[in-house]
Amino acid sequence: MQSKSTPSSGAAFIQRFIKHPAQVGTIAATSPAVSRRLAEPIPETGEPLVVELGPGTGAVTEWIRRRLNGRGHHLAIEIDPVFAEMLRTNYPDLDIAVADAGNLSTLLADRGLGKVDVVVSALPWTLLSDEQTRRILSALAASMTPDGVFTTITYTTARMLPPWRRVLAALNDTFESVEPSAAIWRNIPPAYVYEARRPRTQKPA
Ligand SMILES: C[S@@+](CC[C@H](N)C(=O)[O-])C[C@H]1O[C@@H](n2cnc3c(N)ncnc32)[C@H](O)[C@@H]1O
Repeated sequence: MQSKSTPSSGAAFIQRFIKHPAQVGTIAATSPAVSRRLAEPIPETGEPLVVELGPGTGAVTEWIRRRLNGRGHHLAIEIDPVFAEMLRTNYPDLDIAVADAGNLSTLLADRGLGKVDVVVSALPWTLLSDEQTRRILSALAASMTPDGVFTTITYTTARMLPPWRRVLAALNDTFESVEPSAAIWRNIPPAYVYEARRPRTQKPA
């Protein structure tokens, strides 16, 4: 499969960052090395339901599609209508919702979709409030299968700082297991992929 990344997708990413820095969160799209790692928990067989949060210009979308190879269902939830329009052009068969990730339950119900097997996210978690973070994570936990997997990214530059520690605490409250990858240097900035498993249906005591 050919990558749909074009020179104009890089320019669009920077333009949207300048317009909505707190929503886009970074000036460069995720690298193939990190995108591939984010998509890795998608099972190689069966018909998995995969939800992608914040697809932007489609860097991670591409790797989810490679992994699915026409199987299952891929729902991409993007809050920015300009990014959503680019995705529609590049991936006419992709199920795209222009919406806030926190509305996941409604989006699934509207489509008659069941529980989600894998959620892949490149949302700018450290720029969200704790309330927003926990609202989105609760929506995910409520919508995932018991053995569902959630993957997300943080940067080496952010990992030791208070905003990520706050996100990590919320992740640990939402999932029984939260594990980081080794640092992946081929990304701007270098990144870690976090993999979270076994969504909690009730808050830990
Ligand atoms: C860091 S960019 C990642 C883009 C792309 N997935 C990548 O990895 O290159 C974050 C993306 O999340 C989107 N976003 C931010 N907040 C969102 C929310 N609450 N719901 C859905 N999308 C959101 C932004 O518009 C942007 O496309």
